[in-house]
Amino acid sequence: MRYPRRRSCRGPSHSATPACKRSLTSISEHPAGVTITLRHTSRGAYDTARTVSNRQLDALHALAVASGTDLVWFTTPAQKQAFSDLTVRATKAIIADDQRAADDYRWYRSNWQDLQQHKDGITIDPSGQSGLIRAVSKLIPTTQQQNNDGRLSGTRDTQLPTAAAFGALTVTERGDRAQLLHAGRIWQRMHLSATVAGLALQPLCQICERADRESSAGLAPEFTDAMATMLSTGTHPVMTFRIGYPVSASLASPRRPAADVIHAWQNWSPSMNQTLHRCWAVALTGVVALLYLWIGVSAHGGQRLLGIAGGLLILAALAAAPRSRTAALVLLSVGALPLAVASWWSIVTPVLALLALLIGWSAVRNLGRPSPNIA
Ligand SMILES: Cc1cc2nc3c(=O)[nH]c(=O)nc-3n(C[C@H](O)[C@H](O)[C@H](O)COP(=O)(O)O)c2cc1C
Repeated sequence: MRYPRRRSCRGPSHSATPACKRSLTSISEHPAGVTITLRHTSRGAYDTARTVSNRQLDALHALAVASGTDLVWFTTPAQKQAFSDLTVRATKAIIADDQRAADDYRWYRSNWQDLQQHKDGITIDPSGQSGLIRAVSKLIPTTQQQNNDGRLSGTRDTQLPTAAAFGALTVTERGDRAQLLHAGRIWQRMHLSATVAGLALQPLCQICERADRESSAGLAPEFTDAMATMLSTGTHPVMTFRIGYPVSASLASPRRPAADVIHAWQNWSPSMNQTLHRCWAVALTGVVALLYLWIGVSAHGGQRLLGIAGGLLILAALAAAPRSRTAALVLLSVGALPLAVASWWSIVTPVLALLALLIGWSAVRNLGRPSPNIA
């Protein structure tokens, strides 16, 4: 079997980056890894003449059983009807909620420029629509109203009635990020395994979406409670979906090139650390300078002068650091040390001088470096 060449792993010089080479090797060694390029969310009709066997459902269930997470199947006609009715109601509620519908629509990429700019979101190609509708939609932009109508009719008339079964991935703690992350990983494994078996999956998360909205907007828990009656007590759905055999091939969704993501991450992480470090060191040096000023203002005679001058010189060191590190260090030392020497018998001023030199040195070094590039 041949897979498309992953040009997205090419660096600027068009040679694969070492990180990419490593990850591609390990991915290709994994049994489900080779299906990554074949796995797509499948939103078209499923084959109603083919059932998904209990053995297949059990095999997927086995991937989901772990501490705190579980998978529930809805396979009987009554269960499927209850899930379908609730999903249609949730879809209507999402569309009727102007804010929510507008937020969803912002992800819709209706023209080529948008798509190339964002390289993410929802497009017409993987929507499961016929070739004719896809072609027309690319010529005539889709309005939010048309998008809403298409979502409701697609869900109600095609996706729900042709599903072989529905599933719900659950967690025991909705606020536990480790469980949520784990549920996401389970979903990915299930989707890859289903793809190997020729099965299609599609998240149908309208009920979860509504339940989240109810909790964040303080609405009556209509969908939260209705879904809870279909699950074991103490479990919460985080991903509801349908399964079946697809009748048509699914098309790919937009993706950012892996190289973009890897470069962004590589640049971002150290830059953020550097920026945080820089801010903390400068802020703490400023606090030490203020303490010098405060001691100066409260003292008398020579110590008053040394305190006030010390504080001002430490602030001057911060101001000078971007231009001359040497000048900044001289100002820092001249500002910090005299007060400590003049009042060596007190613990406070020598300790303060030590802090001024240590933290101030770090701040001066950081301010002397060029700004991190987060591009
Ligand atoms: C938490 C979550 C909820 C989702 N809900 C829906 C949904 O309700 N309907 C749908 O068609 N796709 C849903 N998706 C699928 C995404 O739209 C899809 O993964 C994305 O468009 C990328 O496409 P791909 O899976 O084909 O690569 C959901 C995905 C996630 C992770």
